[in-house]
Amino acid sequence: MTTGEPLSRRAEDLFREAFHADPTAVVSAPGRINIIGEHTDYNDGFVLPAAIDRYVTVAFRPRPRGPVEMVSDQSQARLQFDGLPPERQGTWGDYVIGVARALGDQGVSSFELAAATTIPVGAGLSSSAALEVASALAMLHSKAAGMPLADVARLCRGVENDFIGARTGIMDPFISLAGRAGSALLLDCRSLQARVCPLPGDRWAWVLADTRVKHQNASSAYNERRAECEAAAKEMGVPSLRDATEDDVNRLTDPVLRARARHVVAENARTRAAATVLESGDPQTLGPLLFASHASLKNDFEVSCEELDALVELAASAPGVIGARMMGGGFGGCVLILVAAEAVDPLQTRLGGAYAGRFGQPPTFYRVRAVDGAWAIDS
Ligand code: GLA
Repeated sequence: MTTGEPLSRRAEDLFREAFHADPTAVVSAPGRINIIGEHTDYNDGFVLPAAIDRYVTVAFRPRPRGPVEMVSDQSQARLQFDGLPPERQGTWGDYVIGVARALGDQGVSSFELAAATTIPVGAGLSSSAALEVASALAMLHSKAAGMPLADVARLCRGVENDFIGARTGIMDPFISLAGRAGSALLLDCRSLQARVCPLPGDRWAWVLADTRVKHQNASSAYNERRAECEAAAKEMGVPSLRDATEDDVNRLTDPVLRARARHVVAENARTRAAATVLESGDPQTLGPLLFASHASLKNDFEVSCEELDALVELAASAPGVIGARMMGGGFGGCVLILVAAEAVDPLQTRLGGAYAGRFGQPPTFYRVRAVDGAWAIDS
């Protein structure tokens, strides 16, 4: 797929410089926003993500033998391994190694790879899933092997779950593969059926305000939340929280499990409602759903933090803003804001000043557009 060529060229140049040869495949995969549907994917629920115009590109060449070698425009160090390490090494290369291992016979045990990216790393825009997706497609391409889209997405989720140790859901790799330009996808994370929902046109903008913080407990708390969801489902006697009703939730005796389940059940309903709103073409009515999602993530799911809450509060009173909420796993990362296009600049000035006054530095802003996923263009 092409990405606005500069990034592909950067990856290719990096590859040639490092390995003195041409890559045999250059593949790009996008990051994502999620309009709504947070912490619902691993509960077999609904999400409404869109692939965005920020990418990871890998330039790749299989080797008949010899070490695995990788370079990236994000780090000076060249990674080198004699064979595929059986366990994670604690570097960005883990995502690639995990994919090569998970592909088994369809993977490649020795290769050279150069990665370049325009996805800010650590901002919660899914740079790791994009790296996995791009690596998987490059390896499949080099073996002339085919694999259904849903299987590639499941494979990448498996890498996160089994190799990296993050018990994440299917949303990030799925949307990186299957995104549609100008649209979000209402994805049913149980059946993997997706409905294309057109996003508001040019009169409106999606702005990300990156807190630039990632609180330390983020990944352990993520796995803990997932375990709490599983415990709540078990107590209610349902396969997953997707199957629970509000009445089931109210019967839970443990107040923490009740709050977690309440978030998931209500968030699934909000997500489906948001898809209908998008289809109706009136973005104004998205606002209350976005703000309610944030309140629920803050109060019931308890994955927000002061920086995220401050940005949502500031956005809520800014002219032209329709809605805002924390996005992704939580404990830092970005707030997603839907705002009238002409109000973007004043919004950034207002939020930047107030946030810096309180936290010492302004957030970083990204204005993003919905694009096609890696699969749509590549296949
Ligand atoms: C992270 C995970 C996703 C999803 C979100 C929360 O981004 O990678 O699978 O669970 O958190 O919605």
